[in-house]
Amino acid sequence: MHLLITGATGTLGRPLCTTLQQTGHRVTVLSRQPAERVRALCGRDVEVWNDLAAWTPERHFDAVVNLAGEPIADARWTAARKARLRDSRIALTEQLVQRIAAAHRRPAVLLSGSAVGVYGDGGERVFTEAAPPAADFAARLCADWEAAARPVQGLGLRLCWLRTGLVLARDGGLLARMRLPFSLGLGARLGDGRQWMSWIHEDDWHALLLHLLADPQASGAFNLTAPQPVTNAEFTAQLARALHRPAFLAAPAWVLKLAAGEMAPLLLGGQRVLPAHAQARGFHFRHPALGGALQDLLG
Ligand SMILES: NC(=O)c1ccc[n+]([C@@H]2O[C@H](COP(=O)([O-])OP(=O)(O)OC[C@H]3O[C@@H](n4cnc5c(N)ncnc54)[C@H](OP(=O)(O)O)[C@@H]3O)[C@@H](O)[C@H]2O)c1
Repeated sequence: MHLLITGATGTLGRPLCTTLQQTGHRVTVLSRQPAERVRALCGRDVEVWNDLAAWTPERHFDAVVNLAGEPIADARWTAARKARLRDSRIALTEQLVQRIAAAHRRPAVLLSGSAVGVYGDGGERVFTEAAPPAADFAARLCADWEAAARPVQGLGLRLCWLRTGLVLARDGGLLARMRLPFSLGLGARLGDGRQWMSWIHEDDWHALLLHLLADPQASGAFNLTAPQPVTNAEFTAQLARALHRPAFLAAPAWVLKLAAGEMAPLLLGGQRVLPAHAQARGFHFRHPALGGALQDLLG
């Protein structure tokens, strides 16, 4: 299979490129970074494009995986940053759809990014893929990102939306940020700690993505989350236990609201999400429970 991947240099994309190449697939990467840097991150044999204009109608890909996007939690959401968060996802996806439409021979499948933030802050409610999108900024960003990909359904492609949860990775992402304070005994639950965290081990995320690539009947929205989400208080306790450190602190909600502004719901809110669609299509999670996942990643 020959795949085009956007966002391939990121936390999720790098191991994906490695796995695909190790299993005999060809990878072309769309990136803003110099080709040498991309090859260092994604593998010596990847073809690197810095501009989607390189996709002339004669070029054929079997599949497209669309992961690119300005990091959502790295800085406060100023007006300029909100525009970057949207453009880097929605405008890029629209351009991708145009190239797909123009191709003489179209790919069979598009796997396109989204996130569990599409459901908004849900309190105790349980969300499967059947739930409608919420209306806050992050939810609209996800819903509009999904909508930008929808036209490929009319072009004969199979489309899967990747509603990714909090990915626990060996290199980068949430665990990399939390590891230092927790290792120093400064791990703290956020606010009252009752908000839900729908996490997934990176190996399950990659296995599920490969499952969606290979399953010709898979289409529509998929929650890429483990079947056993936990509250923030439980996550804090389990991470501290895995690192053999105490975690008796709590970051007060008012401090987080002051520091994070409009982004505060990312920390103080959450959603309790189940991977109903993946399980209905026969996907088996290797790391369904947080304790085992953390043990595997940190132990
Ligand atoms: N990791 C998670 O826990 C998680 C959870 C939910 C959703 N997601 C979504 O899944 C996707 C992949 O996640 P990830 O953790 O691998 O992300 P990541 O490490 O932040 O990497 C995203 C990639 O997107 C590209 N990118 C960043 N800013 C961009 C911009 N302004 N314009 C165009 N491209 C830009 C970059 O590629 P180049 O520098 O090569 O251009 C970067 O390597 C992201 O869109 C993310 O929002 C991730």
